[in-house]
Amino acid sequence: MSEEKVNYLKRREDLCKRIEEDSVIIVASSSVKKRNSDSNYPFRQDSNFFYLSGYDEPESLIVLRPEEKEKYILFCRDREPALEQWEGFRSGQEGAIEKFKADGAYSITKLDELMPSLIEGKKNIYYSMSSPNGLNNKIKKWVNEIRRNIRGGSECPLNLISLDSIIDEMRLIKSTEELDLMRRACEITSVAHKNAMQKVSPGMFEYQLEAEYLYSFMQGGSRSPAYNSIVGGGNNACILHYSENSSILQDGSLVLVDAGCEYEHYASDVTRTFPVNGKFSVEQKEIYKIVLEAHTEALKEVKPGNPYINVHNRSIEVITEGLISLGLLEGKVVDLINKGAFSKYYMHRVGHWLGMDVHDVGNYKVDGEWRRLEEGMVLTIEPGIYILDNMEQVDKKWLGIGVRIEDDVLVTSEGNEILTSMAPREPEDIESLMSS
Ligand code: GLY
Ligand code: MN
Ligand code: MN
Repeated sequence: MSEEKVNYLKRREDLCKRIEEDSVIIVASSSVKKRNSDSNYPFRQDSNFFYLSGYDEPESLIVLRPEEKEKYILFCRDREPALEQWEGFRSGQEGAIEKFKADGAYSITKLDELMPSLIEGKKNIYYSMSSPNGLNNKIKKWVNEIRRNIRGGSECPLNLISLDSIIDEMRLIKSTEELDLMRRACEITSVAHKNAMQKVSPGMFEYQLEAEYLYSFMQGGSRSPAYNSIVGGGNNACILHYSENSSILQDGSLVLVDAGCEYEHYASDVTRTFPVNGKFSVEQKEIYKIVLEAHTEALKEVKPGNPYINVHNRSIEVITEGLISLGLLEGKVVDLINKGAFSKYYMHRVGHWLGMDVHDVGNYKVDGEWRRLEEGMVLTIEPGIYILDNMEQVDKKWLGIGVRIEDDVLVTSEGNEILTSMAPREPEDIESLMSS
């Protein structure tokens, strides 16, 4: 996206205010990844890179030098019309300056030649320790090049500093313009879940239900899912990262679908679990209602000032109580929680930050303490119960039931707002939509 819709300049300026004087910031783009032979995976820009530039091409590098005339330099691919006819359009250095507002733009082929002089004399180099493209090694090489000329008067940088914690903090709190994009992603995804509930039927392959999601995403204006969709019927719902999506959906079983679209580089992440034939069985509904209560109760803990861990702890309490009530756990709630007995059936956290990445950046603890929620954070709430069909000492009526309910939630000044509430969650609402 160009500068007009999102204020990338402001983001770069904000970032530069958060670093030491006499510094340079380096951010590398993602690279194209080969799938096989001459075909590649769809290109997805590195989130930090896109956050600061809106520039969506591989083989690029951002250099920020706040004290210099050329504060924002973009290294990028050269225009090559003959190649572009095969591989697609490139902005080139001219586009980098005109459309993406770089103060200076250079050919990526000149990177090794120019970088030592751009770093020389700066005290600190900030870069992402998780950068793609082996940036680490390149920086070492540039610094060593400066060092070689130290007797000629070159000044070598003193510190390599991680950019991650600084930029993560910026990305953790969403601006109004980011929330507009996230709302759109959440809306498209909610519509896709509603549509899938109406389209599913026994005998379909899981991937055929997945196809409904992909269709809805693209029709809604999203170019791709934010992560590999999970469409698990029956026992497959109990496999947390199931991605084969290749079994037949059986009459009488549930299907768990964890699918969310990406819209303009922002993710949504939603799970709904619904009966393949449109009607929950008694046992399925009992498990479902516990997960739903855990979801409702956890949500009440999402409010500014509340430590993040309270949200998770509340979900554990409700699920433990529920499992006791069904005879799936035996003992006292406190003891079972202390022993972690719930983790036999609920083995993941209640959620995570959401943003440009589905598991978005940002620390969950600060100075050793669980972080307190703040207005503008977006997180998922996704409790679940999973009873694998090979579990021993479990009444067989429960076997092969897996339920997760996942929504995307914004922390507001008042408490929270569910961004994905359009997708039905109450079992009665799901059944009535499915029968309509
Ligand atoms: N879809 C990944 C997750 O729910 O965390
Ligand atoms: Mn998910
Ligand atoms: Mn999630």
